[in-house]
Amino acid sequence: MSRTVYVNGSYLPEEEATVSVFDRGFLFADGVYEVTSVLDGQLIDFDGHAKRLERSLGELDMDSPVSMDELRDIHRELVRRNDLREGGVYLQITRGAADRDFLFPEGAEPTIVLFTQAMNLTNSPKAEKGLKVISIPDIRWGRRDIKTVQLLAPSLGKMEAKKAGCDDAWMIEDGFVTEGTSNNAYIVKGGTIITRDLSNAILHGITRAAVLRFAREAQMKVEERSFTIDEAKDADEAFITSATTFVTPVVEIDGQQIGEGVPGTVAKRLREIYLEESRKLAD
Ligand code: PDD
Repeated sequence: MSRTVYVNGSYLPEEEATVSVFDRGFLFADGVYEVTSVLDGQLIDFDGHAKRLERSLGELDMDSPVSMDELRDIHRELVRRNDLREGGVYLQITRGAADRDFLFPEGAEPTIVLFTQAMNLTNSPKAEKGLKVISIPDIRWGRRDIKTVQLLAPSLGKMEAKKAGCDDAWMIEDGFVTEGTSNNAYIVKGGTIITRDLSNAILHGITRAAVLRFAREAQMKVEERSFTIDEAKDADEAFITSATTFVTPVVEIDGQQIGEGVPGTVAKRLREIYLEESRKLAD
C-alpha cells in the first residue's frame, strides 16, 4: 500500500513526491536527518531528536524550514495518516536545490522530507537472539557528531558484515571502538556498563542518553570512556542502542563469543527499563 509522505509543505502519495535533481542532499550529501521511533502510535523522545536536529543544522549553518513545534505536528500527522503503530519516522532536511557549486548557495530554500517506516521493534527476533558483529576500520569523516546523510561508509560496513554472515559491524579507530554502523556500542565488565564518551568521533545517540540516565537511576555503574576491541571480546556482555533497535544484545564479535554467547542480563534488563520508561514519556 502506498504511504503518504511529506515534502516541502505537502502530504502526498509516495509515487507523487519528488525533489529536484539539483538538490544539494543528492549532489553533496549536504543534509541532515533524524529517525524517531514510534510505539503504539506515539513518538519516542521527539524532544531529544528535535534538539539534536537543531544542533546538526547549526553546525552546518543550515536553516530549518519549519519550527520544532511544527515538526512535531508533521510527525504526528504522518503517523496518523499512515496509521503507523510501530516503526519510525524518517526526517531529512537539506540545504535545498541550487546550481552545482561547492560553495553554499545564497537564498536556496531548504528541502524537507518525512516518511514513515513500519517496523517490528518490540518483538524483534534479533533482540531475542543477540547480534553477531564484525570489527572494521572507521573510514568516516571527522564530524560524526553531526547526523548527516553521508551514509556510504556505514552502508559498506553493513554489507561487509552481511557477507561475513553477521548482523552488523563495530568501527575501530586507533585501536578503539567508536560505534556501530548505525548505533552506539557498549560493553559490560564486572557489572559496569562502558560506552565511549561523547566527542566528534561518535554520534550523540538519543537512545544512548536515555539508556545511561535510566541505568544510573537504577543504580547501575556507568563509565563513559573508550574501549578497545580486545577489551570488548573479553567483556561479560556487549550491546548496542539506537532509535530502531532500543537496547539489543551483541553475542559475538569477530567470531568470538561474548560471555556465555547469549544475551546478557544487564542488556536484557536495560531493554526492559528503556521500553517501560520510554512508553511513559511517549507523546
Ligand atoms: N542511526 N550512531 C550512529 C552512527 C547512528 O547512525 C545512530 C542512529 C546512532 C544511535 O542514535 P539514536 O539513539 O539517536 O538513534 C548512533 C539511525 C537509527 C539510522 O541511521 O537509521
